[in-house]
Amino acid sequence: MKPLQVGVFASGRGSNLKALFDAIERGELFVKIVLVISNKADAGVFNIARDYGVPTLHLSQENFSSTEELDRATLSALREHDVEVVALAGYLKKIGSNVIREYKNRILNIHPALLPSFGGKGMYGIKVHQAVLDYGCKVSGVTVHLVDDEYDTGPPILQQCVPVHQDDTAESLAARVLEVEHKIYAEALQLFAQRRIEVRGRKVLIKEAPNDSN
Ligand code: GRF
Repeated sequence: MKPLQVGVFASGRGSNLKALFDAIERGELFVKIVLVISNKADAGVFNIARDYGVPTLHLSQENFSSTEELDRATLSALREHDVEVVALAGYLKKIGSNVIREYKNRILNIHPALLPSFGGKGMYGIKVHQAVLDYGCKVSGVTVHLVDDEYDTGPPILQQCVPVHQDDTAESLAARVLEVEHKIYAEALQLFAQRRIEVRGRKVLIKEAPNDSN
């Protein structure tokens, strides 16, 4: 059986992408990352993709006259590379509704808190961890979830708790959470690779890869 073909969207440094490559190299994740897309031309994630010989593509709304046009360009790149599943890894833009429709139940996101708390528009990066500390939470965590039309509202695939320590700063909590992110994202994608995704008690079917005979 051929590995699941994954496209990664990211806006930042790309440590989650690197963790996916590491999991693939360790034989823990049976996927092939075939394309990395970013809205930022100078995103660190592009350097990681290039180190692993994976094609990169800069797609920004600034270069398109409408969201429909950006969606069209995105979909045509995903089709050209036979992308079956999309993994958002620190991607700060909303995915267009045409892409969501075409890739229904095949777009994942990783969020550095336990959704549905501490998510939504503008809740990213250190702000998430600061909000967790300001609220006085005793645990935080990581959520990998399916992506729908809103920010951070799709159903969870995997979640894991991370303890909050009394002397935590947003930065120390972020570092502890990130370690778990690097483990759990590969685990969630491996569920996709094995076509074992269940959401709210129901099996989610994803399309077979083109030419996949199994
Ligand atoms: C991670 O914390 C992820 O949960 C969030 O954005 C961050 C991306 O970090 N969505 P990196 O670019 O993968 O290092």
